[in-house]
Amino acid sequence: MAASILIADDDPVQRRLVENMVQKCGYEAVVVETGDAVIEKLTNPDAAPIDAIVLDLVMPGLDGMGVLSKMREAGISIPVIVQTAHGGIDNVVSAMRAGAQDFVVKPVGIERLQVSLRNALNTSALKGELQRIRHSREGRLTFTDIITRAEAMAPILRIAEKAAASSIPVLIEGESGVGKELFARAIHGTSERKTRPFVAVNCGAIPDNLVESILFGHEKGAFTGATERHMGKFVEAHGGTLFLDEVSELPLTAQVKLLRALQEGAVEAVGGRKPVKVDVRIISATNRRLLDRVKDGHFREDLFYRLHVLPLTIPPLRARREDIPHLLRHFLARFAAEENRAVSGISGEAVAYLTRLDWPGNIRQLENAVYRAVVMSETDQLGVTDFPLIPTHAPPVDSLPALTVERPLHPALPAMVPGSEVPIAPSPPPSHGSLSMLTASGDVRPLEEMEHEIIRFSIAHYRGQMSEVARRLKIGRSTLYRKLDEANGETPSTESPPL
Ligand SMILES: Nc1ncnc2c1ncn2[C@@H]1O[C@H](COP(=O)(O)OP(=O)(O)OP(=O)(O)O)[C@@H](O)[C@H]1O
Ligand SMILES: [Mg+2]
Repeated sequence: MAASILIADDDPVQRRLVENMVQKCGYEAVVVETGDAVIEKLTNPDAAPIDAIVLDLVMPGLDGMGVLSKMREAGISIPVIVQTAHGGIDNVVSAMRAGAQDFVVKPVGIERLQVSLRNALNTSALKGELQRIRHSREGRLTFTDIITRAEAMAPILRIAEKAAASSIPVLIEGESGVGKELFARAIHGTSERKTRPFVAVNCGAIPDNLVESILFGHEKGAFTGATERHMGKFVEAHGGTLFLDEVSELPLTAQVKLLRALQEGAVEAVGGRKPVKVDVRIISATNRRLLDRVKDGHFREDLFYRLHVLPLTIPPLRARREDIPHLLRHFLARFAAEENRAVSGISGEAVAYLTRLDWPGNIRQLENAVYRAVVMSETDQLGVTDFPLIPTHAPPVDSLPALTVERPLHPALPAMVPGSEVPIAPSPPPSHGSLSMLTASGDVRPLEEMEHEIIRFSIAHYRGQMSEVARRLKIGRSTLYRKLDEANGETPSTESPPL
């Protein structure tokens, strides 16, 4: 998916010219005739996002300068390249003062426009990234830093935004990499506590014997090795937010102390004599279902109810695939800028391929895949082959049925699956692919299940080149996509390999 460039010019010939050039540079062009239409495109929440603007200065009605000043008023910082006729240099100076990033003189050549657009996009991504880092460091990440357009996320965002207005304890559940910490930071960064610390503790990463001292602090000499007084995360977070990550891993003894701290609003340091009052907002997160931990006796029920006051469950990426193109665009721009690479877009085929993957590592996995692709790519347009080696989520080998039949699909399988329009392609050599035809109990596996496995294998084998997969499997592309959807829909997520 390429960056979107908005072109505004009242002259149809100029519009067409610039549109052609923008498309030749590999970007998507959105064309409007008036300044008002520019503002509408930038402010309408339903309009597709715009990455840069090529703006004519002289237009009837709201002119280029008017657009720049309205953008500034609305706090819109999308880069603008102004177009001016020969001799309009005075206008250019005012436009640059009003916030334009660059200017080109009509009629602009494609090379000049390309350089200008690339610079504009890079600078803008870099600015966004710098702002993100600064926000995060200052505890000021907000909900606008959460990239999502999925319907499934709308109610969650609404609840989280409401939660931000109070100090209600929030429990965020969701698989690894779905954005639990990002949400926690956005809640903090939108709350009244935003100028106070956001302190994150990974409860699963602290050795059991240190949990209490890390959370509640210790006095000097409280135990062997306590050579200094330590104030503990609760006290550190005073006035702000304490983020208890992987809270389900907290040892039972620490759970008792945590419960008491929450009930009394005070903490007692290890070896300390009296409790210290603290004012801390608690956000906890877990990638297990905390209630299950309660049921199996690993988590105290009374503490569960203290933390679970406002539960938020963030759906996995495969349940909101419509977010994938937006996330791709976001990460692409960010890494291209950070790594100073001239990667300007991603092919539609790659977007389709990536949108169909299951992403067991969720947004973190997608982020890393784009990072890798941007760094390794040899062209300015990412394609399917730039995303090899996406780790599969196949069951580990040792959990496969003991009776795995290690032999090639062909010629052991019939050339045509009975009752199915799908012929089975000649198999890859046995060392590269094998199909277990028997279940653990020694019965033949359902045909449909094996067919899905063959399709997934083929996609991985041809690195997601869907045309090639369809050709090899001797089925149409639309049949392939249909079967793939069936496979993704029917297979339990824990077993379905991404492709
Ligand atoms: N909606 C989103 N928009 C942009 N970036 C996102 C989004 N969701 C997650 N990320 C990014 O993905 C990465 C993983 O997110 P985060 O650390 O919040 O996940 P998590 O659920 O806490 O994962 P874990 O359970 O493994 O700790 C981070 O770099 C985060 O910035
Ligand atoms: Mg996390």
